[in-house]
Amino acid sequence: MNQKWDDRYKEQGFAYGKDPNVFFKEWLPKFNPGSIVMPADGEGRNGVFAAQSGWKVTSFDLSIEGKSKALHLAKESNVTLDYIVGNLNELQFEKETFDAIGMIYAHFLAEHKSSFHKKLDTFLKPGGIIIFEAFSKSHLPYKKANPKVGGPRDINELYSKEEITEDFKNYEVLHLEEEEILLNEGKYHIGKGAVIRFVGRKQ
Ligand SMILES: C[S@@+](CC[C@H](N)C(=O)[O-])C[C@H]1O[C@@H](n2cnc3c(N)ncnc32)[C@H](O)[C@@H]1O
Repeated sequence: MNQKWDDRYKEQGFAYGKDPNVFFKEWLPKFNPGSIVMPADGEGRNGVFAAQSGWKVTSFDLSIEGKSKALHLAKESNVTLDYIVGNLNELQFEKETFDAIGMIYAHFLAEHKSSFHKKLDTFLKPGGIIIFEAFSKSHLPYKKANPKVGGPRDINELYSKEEITEDFKNYEVLHLEEEEILLNEGKYHIGKGAVIRFVGRKQ
């Protein structure tokens, strides 16, 4: 399972670029810095941005190659990341540890999606925020027309507003939209795609 990601991150350059995701960059500065967990942080572009913005960052991902690239990027950017290699299946943090969760293109197997969201929720303090962007269920025709935009092939790994509302029903919704956007992230997110963008505050 992590071989795909290790192979991708072993390639030269940063798969999704070194710059943070546009939506994450727009929303994170609206909140006071504290501790943030970054599930599926890959090569760390978003974790590093959070650290540069004054957050204490805990990243995790399946890929050891992702960790190595992320630590390199952190060093180059004069920040530190606490980066754990592991599957969210097995990872455990204390209840209500973090002030925020940053989930950017954290696509999980269909059978795990919802339970992973519920598990992540337990790590967040009441009043904590989540910033989320991932491909929506309307994305498949975009991927078919232009494979360079990336994203999962299986519609069940993609998201809908209804699923997000259900998984995070104990959240005040600050933003929840399905949007067509133009991605320009490294060499694996290039072109038009359909995404869900969500920002919520845990009640
Ligand atoms: C499309 S990449 C996104 C990387 C990063 N968030 C970004 O936007 O640059 C998806 C990432 O999810 C990670 N991933 C998938 N399933 C996971 C799991 N069960 N536990 C931890 N990481 C996982 C993969 O290793 C991969 O790095």
